[in-house]
Amino acid sequence: MSTEVAFEVKNVAKYYDKVKALDGVSLQAQKGKILGLLGPNGAGKTTLVKVLSTLLLPTKGTAMVMGHDVATEPDKVRQQIGLTGQYAAVDEYLTGLENLQMMGRLYRMSVKDARQRADELIKQFDLEEAAKRPVKTYSGGMKRRIDLAMSLIATPPVIFLDEPTTGLDPRSRLTMWDTVKKLAGGGTTILLTTQYMDEADNLADNIVVIDRGKTIAEGTPDSLKAKVGSDRLEIVIGKKSTVEEAKKIIGGRDVQVDKDKQTVSVASRGGVGKLKEVLSRLERANIEVDSISLHRPTLDDVFMSLTGHTATKDSSTEEAKKKKGKK
Ligand SMILES: Nc1ncnc2c1ncn2[C@@H]1O[C@H](COP(=O)(O)OP(=O)(O)OP(=O)(O)O)[C@@H](O)[C@H]1O
Ligand SMILES: [Mg+2]
Repeated sequence: MSTEVAFEVKNVAKYYDKVKALDGVSLQAQKGKILGLLGPNGAGKTTLVKVLSTLLLPTKGTAMVMGHDVATEPDKVRQQIGLTGQYAAVDEYLTGLENLQMMGRLYRMSVKDARQRADELIKQFDLEEAAKRPVKTYSGGMKRRIDLAMSLIATPPVIFLDEPTTGLDPRSRLTMWDTVKKLAGGGTTILLTTQYMDEADNLADNIVVIDRGKTIAEGTPDSLKAKVGSDRLEIVIGKKSTVEEAKKIIGGRDVQVDKDKQTVSVASRGGVGKLKEVLSRLERANIEVDSISLHRPTLDDVFMSLTGHTATKDSSTEEAKKKKGKK
């Protein structure tokens, strides 16, 4: 592993009985970069974070962090990482400040150093007003921030953030994005898992998309979008019951449907001409159209074209439905 690589997994698999939580994933992150790990519910994101942070041994494959193997040198790995799990790990009855100081003491800092670092982080995360209140009185966004602050006590070179903005309101999300960008700007290497395409698009230098334990695409946000190709024509159909029919009428190899949003989308090679043609075909078939728009491909389109479903769908339950009977 080159000195520029902060962490790397090679062909990692994790099996639980018949469930293949991970099934041969490889990825690496350069120092100071943000790697986005993108995938729907059940894709294997948390499992990968657990492997990298030494909480789970892989069934197959290797994972290295800052030159140390998670399987043979877990203590060395732990000294290099901060982890913010998917569910907050703060003590609800202690204040924010006390939580941070306690974490500092766990890292064997002196009382004085732990206090100083806790004060710094409280400021950095804009929690001064709430610092002396028990965490159970914090809002979801504040809890997420104190949680992230906890993982930064020891200023680790690598941090793993498992869905740091899930459940946050739009403003807290932006604050979190800002914090993540600043961390990377300061040289920290970050693995960020998310179900949100716009988040990956905004933050990640590189993206690995996984679904059902396997890598289905990787690259920079731009290169992934370029794969989808031309602009997309998106048509919102008036009646849910006619969405499937509209799909047939519009046709084409890359036609996509989102039944929940009642939309059908298709590559718009041919621009306005194509738009007119599609509309008149739908009109002839008496299919009501609510709205129609042209847009540049987004990562959502990338995901759709790769998997045939949106990123927020639970792939594991879809799989379960297919194997009906078995859970
Ligand atoms: N301890 C376990 N025993 C059995 N199956 C497990 C276990 N942990 C995870 N799985 C399964 O492995 C798959 C991947 O789970 P994982 O938690 O890594 O997904 P995820 O991408 O983090 O999903 P989410 O977005 O919902 O957090 C799922 O199908 C899950 O049910
Ligand atoms: Mg998860």
